[in-house]
Amino acid sequence: MQPAVEARQRIARLSAHLNPTNSQMEVNTMLERVDCRAKGGSPGFKVAILGAAGGIGQPLAMLMKMNPLVSVLHLYDVVNCPGVTADISHMDTGAVVRGFLGQQELEAALTGMELIIIPAGVPRKPGMTRDDLFNINAGIVKTLCEGIAKCCPNAIVNLISNPVNSTVPIAAEVFKRAGTYDPKKLLGVTMLDVVRANTFVAEVLGLDPREVDVPVVGGHAGVTILPLLSQVKPPCSFTPDETEYLTKRIQDGGTEVVQAKAGAGSATLSMAYAAVKYADACLRGLRGDAGVVECAFVASQVTELPFFATKVRLGRTGAEEVYQIGPLNEYERVGLEKAKKELAASIQKGISFIKK
Ligand SMILES: NC(=O)c1ccc[n+]([C@@H]2O[C@H](COP(=O)([O-])OP(=O)(O)OC[C@H]3O[C@@H](n4cnc5c(N)ncnc54)[C@H](O)[C@@H]3O)[C@@H](O)[C@H]2O)c1
Repeated sequence: MQPAVEARQRIARLSAHLNPTNSQMEVNTMLERVDCRAKGGSPGFKVAILGAAGGIGQPLAMLMKMNPLVSVLHLYDVVNCPGVTADISHMDTGAVVRGFLGQQELEAALTGMELIIIPAGVPRKPGMTRDDLFNINAGIVKTLCEGIAKCCPNAIVNLISNPVNSTVPIAAEVFKRAGTYDPKKLLGVTMLDVVRANTFVAEVLGLDPREVDVPVVGGHAGVTILPLLSQVKPPCSFTPDETEYLTKRIQDGGTEVVQAKAGAGSATLSMAYAAVKYADACLRGLRGDAGVVECAFVASQVTELPFFATKVRLGRTGAEEVYQIGPLNEYERVGLEKAKKELAASIQKGISFIKK
């Protein structure tokens, strides 16, 4: 390789995070995507985080920079992104980090990406329900998904922005309009409910939470969050009081954090952990690993509703198999009916937002 070309490539690589327009420059200077790795970095996937400078976005960006399955990490936000990007880019892990600031850089942030994680939006404040967030976050998700449809229509999308029960149907409508909708690739992240359920159940059983697997089905708000305590692994049983306590605590986990933070936001650190656990499962699926199964809110035929959260098998093309709910006890059957009623309204609200 010519020394001048090599030097130009090296400079472009080093300064990639400082000036996002370098991604344009790379094309012009023949710096191919395959070369955009830190030396010694292992081959991996290209991941973008939209809303990367936020309460969830920052720890999420840090944890994704530590993930060996990531080769390129794009951080996009409408504020504060250069600082977060410079900071994260000093970590001596394999992934190359680039920052993108503002709507005019959205397309550059998305182009070539294989997994998009979206925690952009406003979080819940005390006294605010998830539905109060609806109008602001619905608009943000619509704009970002229009960009995805245009720039990386084959990417897997992990949608975190609340209310997930409505933002996933919104994203689906945007992709349908653009002619790019693939239901297997749109995944509403409900992993935090599973993470909380595993933790709280482990506390009651006196087990290590890493040994506990609690399926959580339905959706991601209040009574739509339905932990299936009858299907916990390892097999165990709960008294009616324990069932009531655990179900309520899992359903109100978000409120517990909002109240404890007293005006300073909602769950961010546990959410970033859960988002990375979920993104890592998606990347292992993309890589072709067998038996990657996690819960997510997806297009589904498991109930009469068009979207529903159950366990799904993640593969090279996204959610390749959506599992059934499985046998329920009477407590869970009552919970399921309540969940479906509320879910139906939230899904409809999302669809109407786009159709109006
Ligand atoms: N799915 C879940 O389990 C779960 C859990 C907790 C929070 N959430 C949701 O995640 C979202 C983010 O929460 P947070 O605490 O990080 O909020 P935050 O306000 O700290 O961060 C949100 C970030 O999004 C950015 N943003 C706003 N508009 C944008 C746009 N158009 N494009 C790109 N970025 C944009 C903001 O600048 C900010 O940096 C909220 O909607 C919250 O309710 C979901």
